[in-house]
Parts: sequence; structure tokens; C-alpha cells
Amino acid sequence: MITNTEIEKRGNQQPDHIVDFKQENDKLHFTTQNGVILELTILRDSAIRFRYATEHVFEPDFSYALNDDVNSGYNELSVEEETAAYIVSTSKINIHIKKSNLKVKITDKEGTVISEDELGFHWEENYDYGGNIVKMSKVCHSGESYYGMGDKASHTNLKGKRVNNWVTDSYAYGKDQEPLYKAIPFYVGLNQNMAYGVFFDNSFSTYFDFANEKRNVTSFWADGGEMNYYFFYGPKMGQVVEAYTDLTGVPELPPLWALGFHQSKWSYYPEKKVKDLAATFRKLEIPCDAIYLDIDYMDGFRCFTWDKQRFPDPKKMIQELEADGFKTVTMIDPGIKIDRDYWVYQEAMENEYFCRRADGPHFKGKVWPGECKFPDFTNPEVREWWAGLYKEMIADMGVHGVWNDMNEPAVMEVPTKTANLDVRHDYDGHRCSHRKAHNVYGMQMVRATYNGIKKYTFPKRPFVLTRAAYSGTQRYCATWTGDNVATWEHLWIANVQMQRMALSGYSFVGSDIGGFAEQPNGELFARWMQLAIFHPFCRVHSSGDHGDQEPWSFGQEITGIVRKFIELRYKLLPYIYTTFYKYIKDGLPMIQSLVFYDQEDTQTHFRTDEFLFGEQMLVCPVQEPNAQGRRMYFPKGNWYNYWTDEVISGGVEKWVSAPLHVIPFYIKEGAMIPKYPVQQYVGEKEIKELEIDIYFKEGMENSEVYEDQQDGYDYKKGRFSLRRFRLRGKENELIIQQFKDGNYITTYDIFKLSFHGLPFTIGIVEVDNEEVSPEDIKLNGNNSIEISKDFTELHIIGK
Ligand code: GLC
Repeated sequence: MITNTEIEKRGNQQPDHIVDFKQENDKLHFTTQNGVILELTILRDSAIRFRYATEHVFEPDFSYALNDDVNSGYNELSVEEETAAYIVSTSKINIHIKKSNLKVKITDKEGTVISEDELGFHWEENYDYGGNIVKMSKVCHSGESYYGMGDKASHTNLKGKRVNNWVTDSYAYGKDQEPLYKAIPFYVGLNQNMAYGVFFDNSFSTYFDFANEKRNVTSFWADGGEMNYYFFYGPKMGQVVEAYTDLTGVPELPPLWALGFHQSKWSYYPEKKVKDLAATFRKLEIPCDAIYLDIDYMDGFRCFTWDKQRFPDPKKMIQELEADGFKTVTMIDPGIKIDRDYWVYQEAMENEYFCRRADGPHFKGKVWPGECKFPDFTNPEVREWWAGLYKEMIADMGVHGVWNDMNEPAVMEVPTKTANLDVRHDYDGHRCSHRKAHNVYGMQMVRATYNGIKKYTFPKRPFVLTRAAYSGTQRYCATWTGDNVATWEHLWIANVQMQRMALSGYSFVGSDIGGFAEQPNGELFARWMQLAIFHPFCRVHSSGDHGDQEPWSFGQEITGIVRKFIELRYKLLPYIYTTFYKYIKDGLPMIQSLVFYDQEDTQTHFRTDEFLFGEQMLVCPVQEPNAQGRRMYFPKGNWYNYWTDEVISGGVEKWVSAPLHVIPFYIKEGAMIPKYPVQQYVGEKEIKELEIDIYFKEGMENSEVYEDQQDGYDYKKGRFSLRRFRLRGKENELIIQQFKDGNYITTYDIFKLSFHGLPFTIGIVEVDNEEVSPEDIKLNGNNSIEISKDFTELHIIGK
């Protein structure tokens, strides 16, 4: 990796003084004497795009990251010319652009500096490839912190780190290893309690240096393309992440089964193994919704084929699994085996779909099947063809979901682990080399896959999983963090990666539970499972080289613990689904680092372990062997211990007990947590009553429950049920109001409300102003009542 100092030595150029200013509606152009143009686009009052051209020329404007329907519109925009600077003002921020050198300073309306250029934009011509190496440097203020950036296996706070975004097959990666599988060039800065975000939308290899090389400088640069970044102002981290997520998009709701527990291995085959696996889940009553078929189901690793010896009748097997409540998910890789008798290869050859090298020959690389060629997924025609290839697998055979792996693309036996840089790509008509297309290659593959699966799964919802990703990939699929290792350190890594991904707009993510490489012992496996039930995507996967990694592979005690936690996951499904709903509705990350939850509390700025799952659960995994407990930090608010109902007031670090069958798990005071009964798979049981755990609070708290048919698209036509609960607790009473939206009729009529921490003995209960008798509501001491789901106001008064 080149260093800043080296870059500077190689002839940096900088903008000089502004000679021209023009405004066209929401776009402002500042041109310098030496041909730099800064184009500002005002997207919202607190979301601004900065784009720099050199030699007066912008590249054609195109990005794979952006969502089609971005919210835009601002309340105020004015430009004032002062002696030394132009001041662009919106209702939220002022942007100062210095006339002498184009440097930018952004302040809030009180004049407090949020972010300011150090050198600002500068560049160096790229002698080898043409174009520029484009760079930006900003002042890093003392006490400033940095978060986000996708899947980095580093401390959640990136201050002092340098990272590189170049999606890479990183088998058995280590802590702090760079680069990894994802390229998400977005960070959130936190300066004096003001959060802002920077999204550097450039698909070349990008680098970010967070005060690593120079103590008070944060910089980012790319090997090519444009200096093109979005600046978002908070001041809350939530507002920044919401704005980034709005720009780059969210997925649709997944089918509910995708939020259940999934079991995978490289690989389950032949058919009998798969069926035995399924039978064992049911026999041991460990809930499971999906079984994965890794590459060995294929005929010689040829995508879209089946090994007929191992799987003589896949359609029948998939049907039988489905009858037993299992969905089948198959793997598809990008490399297509060079084989003149293989129809996929033939079609791609005939239609010119494979990538070519600079001078014309096809690009070839070795993957599982040996020598392969690679479709150019950045060509829309190729994507359409690829989507169509799924027809047989999905529409005819009945496969329920697909995972796309090795889509960096990973290439074996070459030092770069990927395609040659001179490989040509269509890039949707903006032809370029692999230098520019590499980071989006996997994204475009999985986009094509998603389109195919969506079409052939209809009227049900698709489920797709990817390994490689660029910003915006979250619109199409879930993702996992690649080939991790069965070590305690990797349990820590999984935890920070999930927090980081969620903060980077990508919530539907999970790790290979227990570790992919090597084998965990029972203790590590159990601890990992306890953490992973609180990750949006929950799947065990392993390389299979070192023994089995099923819930029952580690003896009876561990099996019991693992069952208990998978059961808990299934009970919490309505909460998890509601959390997903909020993610796609408001851009709210499903997992929140403590700093996201309370940025004002500086204690949270360097915490890595504790996180919120949804808005009302606080979790802190045990990350070392032989522990009976651990220290954890409680952020502001009061927290009920899920296991004991003991209440802890936030703002303190405390030792909490956590023997092997317990993970430190707390519920926010005032929360109403919906629960389903344990099911062996989603849809096994008709839900007859919705259990809601109510955690008493003196004061107010809002909770929501989102439900629908759990699959299909009727929810888009209003067939959903959204319940908003407002809880108000007082010394001697509890009032709960319900507001309803949507016209989906839930299968249950009754809520079973279970009380936690009620400070009084229940005396009178009124439903919608009418007193009800204890028998009518099945009053069970002070523990629970059962009432109609249609109540508007519930009033409980102490004796
Ligand atoms: C890659 C994947 C892993 C998979 C293996 C075989 O290593 O990351 O999940 O099992 O390839 O397909």
C-alpha cells in the first residue's frame, strides 16, 4: 500500500483560486484557474454531494451504489460571496469554500466546525493507467472518532487505523487484516458530539486513513475515477446512517423463514446425508428453517447442474424437505467451467458474455472446477441471461434461495487472488478495466441472481446471500462475513463486524457460527450461538474438514444450551421481524453499537462488545473460555436482566454473571416484547395468541409489532398489521394504549401480557374504560392477563 508521504513526493497537484461560480438549481459549480471544478449538489439540507473534476472535465455520471428513489429536497439554499470565500447555506449547515484554494469547511448554523479540509482535494496524474489518483484530506480534531466502513475486522472505532477497500477472498483472515470481502467506503465521524458521514462513491480500490499516518489528518483516496463523495450531517449518528441508507437503499422484507435458524456445511451430500440431517433436527427438536447445499451438489462444480449420483432426484428431495419445514438453499459461483459440452459455457461463448483481457483473449482463472471463464455481470444483457439461468433450479426444482460465493471474483493460484487488472468490463456502457469494476463485480452478479430468484420465486419472496459487496448491495441480498476461524478472537471479530456492517447500512448479515476454518470446542460453539441468535442472519456453516458442526456435535450439555438459544430466536421472531421492518422503513440499523445508541456518553466511544439488537435489547457476548461472567457497560436507561428481571441503571460498568448457559441479555425498561411460541420452523404452528412481555417503567416508552403473511407481497397492498403501543407507568398504575395500522388480520385474537417488575399488586383492570373481571382476563396473580388484541386502552390499577 502506498503511504501519504510517498504520494506527496510523487507530484501532487492542488486546485488554485476560483475564477468562476455558477448555480443551476440544486447544483453549484466553482471553477479554479487551473481547471478544477467543484460541483456541489444539494440533496437535502444536510446531505451534499461533492464532486471534483480536473482539466474542466467530469467523467460521465454513473454509480451502481445509488438507490433509484432517493429522497431529495431541501428547505433553504443560498450562496453568499464574501471577500475570501463563498458561503453556501442550507437550513442545517453552512459550507465555506475558500476562493484562494477551493478548500471546504462545513459548520453547523451556530458556526461550530463539523468538518474541514486539511489539504482538501488534491490529485496526482496516473502515469501507468491514465486519469488521476484522487485524494482528499481532512482535519482530524482531537477527540474525533470514526465508525462504519463495512466488514473491517478491527476495533469498532477506526481512529488510528488505515483501511483499504478492495473486495478480497480472505480465507481465515485475522484481526485487523486488510482488505476483506466488502468495499463499503462509508464512515461516520463523531466530532464534539456532532456526527457526520462521508460516503466516497468510487469503485476503484479506495483507502481511508483515520489519523494513522498523521495524528491530525484523516484522508481518503482512490486509484482512479473521480473524487466524488457525499457528506451527511447529523448531528445524531442515526440521522447520518439513515441518510446514507436512503441514498444506497434497503432490501425488501425477507420471507420470515430467512430469519429463522439455518444449517450449512461444505458440503452436505449425498441426498441421504441431507435427509438424515433434517431428520435429526426434528428428532432432537432443534428448530431449523433452511439447509444449504454447498458446491458438491453440482456436477463437477458446473453451476446450474446437479450431480445425479449424489442427488438422483433433487426435485423430490426438495419437496420432501419442504414438507418437513426445510427450505433448500443452493450455491452458485461466478466461474463457469471451460467445457465445450456444458450448456452454460456454450451459451456464454455464443453470446459473447465472458470477460476479455485488454488485447482480446478471454480472461481465464482457476476456481473449483479448474479453468473457468467469468461472465461480465456489469453488462445488463449478461445479467438478464444470468437471471434466466435460475429458472429450472427455482421454478422447476423448487430451490428456495441461493448463495453467491467467490464473487470477488476469487481466483485460485494467483498472487492477486482475483482477475487481472486489464480485464475489460462493460460497466453498463461505461467501458472500463477491472481496476474500476472489481469492487462491483460481485454486487452485479448477486443483483442478477436476485432478479432471477425474485422472478421465479414469485409470488413468494426471494432469499439471496452474497459474500462480496459494494455499497448498495444490501438492496438485493443478505451477506455473511466469509471464511472466519473457530477461535475466540473470531467471536470478537464477528461481533464487531456485525455492528460495523449494520452501521454501514447493511443490516442483514451474519457470521459462520462456530467458525468456518478449524473446529470449535463445545464451549466456543455455545458462546457463538448465544451471540449469533442476536444477528439478523443466523447460520452455522463450516468447512467440514475438521469434523461436524451441528447443534448436537458437542455432547448433551452443549446441545441443550444450543437448543435453548435457537428456541429463544424463534420466540423472538416477531421482535426481529419488526426490527427488520424498521430498518427498511427508517434506515435504522438492526444492530446498534453503544456509541450509536448514546453518542453523548463518551464512555461508549471505544466500547466494542456491548450492542443493541433492535431498539430494546442490550446484549454482551462472553468472549473467552471458562468465564462465569464478565464486565460490561450499561448505557443510559434502566435495563432488566432477561433471565432474572433484576434492574440495572445505566451509566456504569458492572460485573455480570454469565455461566455457560447464559449470555448477558437485558431488556430496556418500558419495552413490550412480542413473542411467538417455539416452532420447529416458521409456519409450523398457527399463532393462537401473541405473548407480550411487558417490562414496567415509571414513565413512557413506545414499542411496535409489525406482522404480515410472513411471505409474499400482499403487505405492499396494505395487508400488514402494525401495532404501536404506548406504555405509561406510574407508581400505582399502568396504562397501555394501542394504535393500529394496516388491514392484515392476524391469526390470533388474544394477547397474553406478561408483567415484569410491576411495583404494585394488580387490583382493577379496565379495558377501553370498562372494568373487567379477573376471570375474563385470566388474571394470573401479578404475572399475566389475557385480553383481546383489539383493545385501545388498557388501564391497570394497583390495590
Ligand atoms: C468459500 C466460501 C465457503 C464455502 C466454500 C466452498 O470458501 O466462503 O463458505 O463453503 O467456498 O464452496
